[in-house]
Amino acid sequence: MKKSIIISFEGIDGCGKTTIVKKFYKYLKKKKLDAIVLHEPGSTHVGEKIRRILLNKNISINKYCELFLYLASRIQLIEEKIKKYFDKNKIIILDRYIDSTFAYQGYGRKIPLKFIEKIHKKLISPKFIPDITFLIDEKPENLIKILKNKKADRIEKESIEFQKRVRKGYLKLATKNKRIKIIRREDEETTFKKVLKEWETFLNENRGNKKIFSKIKGKKQNI
Ligand code: TYD
Repeated sequence: MKKSIIISFEGIDGCGKTTIVKKFYKYLKKKKLDAIVLHEPGSTHVGEKIRRILLNKNISINKYCELFLYLASRIQLIEEKIKKYFDKNKIIILDRYIDSTFAYQGYGRKIPLKFIEKIHKKLISPKFIPDITFLIDEKPENLIKILKNKKADRIEKESIEFQKRVRKGYLKLATKNKRIKIIRREDEETTFKKVLKEWETFLNENRGNKKIFSKIKGKKQNI
């Protein structure tokens, strides 16, 4: 029986995903729900070390090495944190997760999707696939200014063509997976409202879904 809800936030670099994650977390807390935010790559001791390698703009990394480093961080996160919070019925919010690998390493780096899918299937139990994913969508051209004002990391330094492939990839993933909700980026408040609207729809659609709700004890009405 599923014990927890897993929610992930995705989008290309500079789309403002992390700000929306923080707002969403605060929103759930206000509703007195037991939620936790984790980010990828990272959120564990080992994962943070891997993150430093992955985002170091002064080193070059082979694309398969990159893929396995993201996966290594993910497996550690699942083993060390997600499993534990899942069993404690927490709502797990992930700032990037599985879809990032399909979008960046699959569509961005052109590693065959089938290969990425195969290793995920081998290593990750279906119960750790997100229940709902918010894809904050924006054209990379509109985010150049934001990225220019930031100290760009190794991935953010990639070409606009790379970011375009990643965005297209995300949109393709959304057509293939019903759980991925496309949220067109607007100003912060409007974007957040759209996330809440999709969240409420998700909750209404799953009211009778014991798998999702049985373990959020007594909180059904408050969500
Ligand atoms: P981060 O600073 O967390 O980016 P953001 O604030 O935009 O979420 O850096 C994570 C970077 O790693 C980001 O550029 C996307 C990339 N990434 C992958 O390429 N594959 C993955 O599987 C994950 C999780 C992230």
